[in-house]
Amino acid sequence: MKTLFINIKELIQVENKPKAFVSGKEMSTLPTLKNAYLLIENSIIKDFGEMQFLKEFNAAKTVDVKGKMILPTWCDSHTHIVFSGNREQEFVDRIKGLSYEEIAAKGGGILNSAKQLQNTSEEDLYKQSAKRLEEVMKLGTGAIEIKSGYGLTKEAELKMLRVIKKLDANYPITIKATFLGAHALPRTFKTNKSAYLDMVINEILPIIAKENLADFIDVFCETNYFSVDDTERILKAGSKYGLIPKIHVNQFTAIGGVQAGIKYNALSVDHLEAMRPQDIEALKNTKTMPVALPSCSYFLGIPYTPARKMIDAGLPLALASDYNPGSTPSGNMNFVISTACIKMKMTPEEAINAATINAAYAMGLNKTHGSISIGKKANFIITKEIPSYGFIPYSFGNHQIEKVFIEGLEI
Ligand code: NIG
Ligand code: FE
Repeated sequence: MKTLFINIKELIQVENKPKAFVSGKEMSTLPTLKNAYLLIENSIIKDFGEMQFLKEFNAAKTVDVKGKMILPTWCDSHTHIVFSGNREQEFVDRIKGLSYEEIAAKGGGILNSAKQLQNTSEEDLYKQSAKRLEEVMKLGTGAIEIKSGYGLTKEAELKMLRVIKKLDANYPITIKATFLGAHALPRTFKTNKSAYLDMVINEILPIIAKENLADFIDVFCETNYFSVDDTERILKAGSKYGLIPKIHVNQFTAIGGVQAGIKYNALSVDHLEAMRPQDIEALKNTKTMPVALPSCSYFLGIPYTPARKMIDAGLPLALASDYNPGSTPSGNMNFVISTACIKMKMTPEEAINAATINAAYAMGLNKTHGSISIGKKANFIITKEIPSYGFIPYSFGNHQIEKVFIEGLEI
């Protein structure tokens, strides 16, 4: 069925020749068409253009969206939305003065979430996670990456990945799954990290590959978590099974995780709050997308990724939410782009590029998502009546979404 949207005040992120991603100065341009139409057929974008060139399309339905804008749905390339319960108590502990690291050292943090998840049935975990997925879809997210990493046993990691698979089967949103077995060291392996890594590599990975449960492999490469050597070991093992690296690096300390990611052709390196000049240098002319997670910095009160330095050095940058119970209990991409503008001094154009086209690349979806382009998925947001697209990040804490379409259907 064909549906035609007419009188679009501004059609945002239009591409005639789709690019893989935009970097450096290119990020300050957002290609748009004023007074435009958009034609979709079933789940795909069929045509778009200026109203003055509108042809006869025999559309079954015509929708007049006068005064409103249309932009591609957000791509959220880094989340942990499959989790159980919450960590509200740790939030209060942090308000009272404990740091994220101190809470983790006390047995809170990731291990706290793992304990809760291990004691949750697959069915209940699915229900809790589906609620969050529905919530972020309504906030304009049209493609999402979800990680394991709150299981930390063979059974619980596989349970998480099966929940992700089930969500993908039951919802129209495109989901990519990431195996993050090396997220934290379980207490039972406290004095024997290499035995835990052996288990991840020799016992869990083969099952994931056999059951096709993940697209990507991730490691929390960080002081007191997993070293660069541990990271390389995991990435090497993952690559044997065709799992592409997308890794947590430089959140609190810079220990060489960026370089390890590049060495193993990581699709993305994420967090990057602690960046040395050599880390920025290493990313130049690579195919690895740097990903910033400003909501995490906001919630934990840690530094923001130095987006200005990175973009001014010619790098691309993507934005994602990091939605998880410990460091970012929010998956609102509208807030992410506002925070990127307010705290990281990105312009609205840069932030929207980072949350659409570059974010699609960071999850291997640049051929199907991230822009209004013929042949791509009919995934788009219809805004409320707003004066300009800059109003989207400007009205922080709010959103300007009237409707969300995923694969051609209003959700
Ligand atoms: O991306 N940094 C590692 N992992 C998550 C947070 C994990 C947690 O606190 O539960 C993150 O911030
Ligand atoms: Fe994360």
